[in-house]
Amino acid sequence: MEDLPKGLAASDAGKIAEKLGSISAGKVLDVGTARGGFIDTLIKTLKAYDSFVGIDYCPSGESREDMESAEKRFEGKAVQFLQMNAENLRFEDESFDTVCISHALHHLAGINMVVTEMKRVLKKGGNFILQEVYCDGEQTEAQKADELEHEWEARIDSLLGITHNKTLTAQEISDIANGLKLSEIEIFDSTHPVDCLFCEKKHQCEDPRNQATFHEAIKDIDDGIKRIENHPDLQTRMRLTEEGKKVKEAIAKSGASPASYLFVIGKK
Ligand SMILES: C[S@@+](CC[C@H](N)C(=O)[O-])C[C@H]1O[C@@H](n2cnc3c(N)ncnc32)[C@H](O)[C@@H]1O
Repeated sequence: MEDLPKGLAASDAGKIAEKLGSISAGKVLDVGTARGGFIDTLIKTLKAYDSFVGIDYCPSGESREDMESAEKRFEGKAVQFLQMNAENLRFEDESFDTVCISHALHHLAGINMVVTEMKRVLKKGGNFILQEVYCDGEQTEAQKADELEHEWEARIDSLLGITHNKTLTAQEISDIANGLKLSEIEIFDSTHPVDCLFCEKKHQCEDPRNQATFHEAIKDIDDGIKRIENHPDLQTRMRLTEEGKKVKEAIAKSGASPASYLFVIGKK
């Protein structure tokens, strides 16, 4: 393995990649796939797979564009994308060998309905994979600033009618995972996601003030303000714009690093 930056090397990302590298995943369903980012990570890490189906309900024009770009990204690979609400999956019982959901739980209106549906379409003995950022615990100042930005962005989405809840706590995510009654369940708690292992900017990102994430967080705030600039609720728009400026100040002070997350894997 190449020389990894300290923070990434100390995280559980390597252990998670190792675990994924032991799995022959068969036919895989990725729920809330957006641009298929998690499918990309799985293709790079799994021991083997047959095919992927990525589903997303695409509530906005932006998310339909995400799906179109995902289709282009995986052209020629055994990856298919479908527009579908995960609360009511249009698949037979036990039709997938692996089901997964990445960074999408806090975007769901009905978490329990979705995970129950995912379990229904999973074969007995199949793999359930879940990864989700959490908001509490021992986060660095840079992670806390990023979380502030994320919460602010969730309020922008909510104003525009898109479900985006506050990030869950680690306990809430564990409760959801344990409620699935999976066997051989393993929970990893990592400061870095697995995809950081493959990222060209991983060395830059070690410094939260001089990194891609920092500039991305500032850009996300500018983009968020643009997204609501024509919204008729002037008062909320002005409040969110002011709060956006404060979040920018917090990021300028501490930098920004993605929040820690839980990675859960178990069998039905
Ligand atoms: C942050 S994105 C997920 C990112 C992606 N999984 C990854 O790891 O790169 C959350 C996605 O969940 C989708 N989503 C929310 N509720 C959904 C539902 N009921 N059915 C399907 N997709 C849903 C949203 O449209 C959004 O694209």
